[in-house]
Amino acid sequence: MLAYRHAFHAGNHADVLKHLILSRVLRYMGEKEKPYTLIDTHAGAGGYSIEGRYAQKKGEYSSGIARLYDRKDLPEPLEGYVDLVRQFNTDGQLRQYPGSPAIANLLMREQDRLRVFELHPTDFRILESYLAPRPNTHVSDKDGFASLKGELPPPSRRAVVLMDPSYEIKTDYAKVLAALREGLQRFADTVFIIWYPQLALLESTQLAQRLKASADAAAKKGWLHVRLTVTQPDERGFGMLGSGIFIANPPFTLHDELQQCMPYLVDKLGLYDGANFVLEQKAA
Ligand SMILES: C[S@@+](CC[C@H](N)C(=O)[O-])C[C@H]1O[C@@H](n2cnc3c(N)ncnc32)[C@H](O)[C@@H]1O
Repeated sequence: MLAYRHAFHAGNHADVLKHLILSRVLRYMGEKEKPYTLIDTHAGAGGYSIEGRYAQKKGEYSSGIARLYDRKDLPEPLEGYVDLVRQFNTDGQLRQYPGSPAIANLLMREQDRLRVFELHPTDFRILESYLAPRPNTHVSDKDGFASLKGELPPPSRRAVVLMDPSYEIKTDYAKVLAALREGLQRFADTVFIIWYPQLALLESTQLAQRLKASADAAAKKGWLHVRLTVTQPDERGFGMLGSGIFIANPPFTLHDELQQCMPYLVDKLGLYDGANFVLEQKAA
């Protein structure tokens, strides 16, 4: 049932885009003294070995983080994210890649609350032991979609939700949409960060439009949508071409930060001449 393991994909172009955005959002949230809560509904194992057999099998990191790790000309927001990956590698060599809980652990303050959900029993155990020293943290092996409503609104009424399913089951698309609607209904200020794969599949091509319509109806501070296309379909017309992130109630600084980074990411991570990005937003 749970065949997906993020270790095969750690540090690929999709992780770069997702973790760049997560890092910008958490830095922004940390600018105010008042604590916030991060709810990571699909957390994975926390961190991954780049040298291990999973990451080495497809070598996806080599066309992702490995293309940025040693660069000296990174746009500033991207430099901030790559620096977190460098902090995660204590001897300086790219050997480990931080997943979303590790990015959170590097950026969140003691007073901030972390709620993470992971269904896979092996990844759950690794994650639980990795986050054990962190205060104000709860690691759960329950379904992240179903558990979200119980977390909103959080006590300090400042919330970020990262929703990062694998979409191996097609029903994930509908669940993401329902979770956004219900989450915004419960707490309209929630910053939602939703990742999706760019596939030649109706559910995937329609998702951003549907998320926009839901956010139009309920998000207090509008939305932002960004997509990075790195490759073209395979000979059968399939394959993951890139990925997108939809953010409801984004920090007002995020659009300009991504404007700085996206052309650079297209240039460095693009795998064909048609690589491109989309960046759009709607203020409330
Ligand atoms: C794409 S990976 C997460 C990667 C992680 N967010 C990161 O950025 O490092 C998706 C994870 O969700 C887990 N998962 C799948 N369905 C779930 C559910 N309903 N609730 C919680 N976890 C789930 C999978 O086992 C997998 O580890």
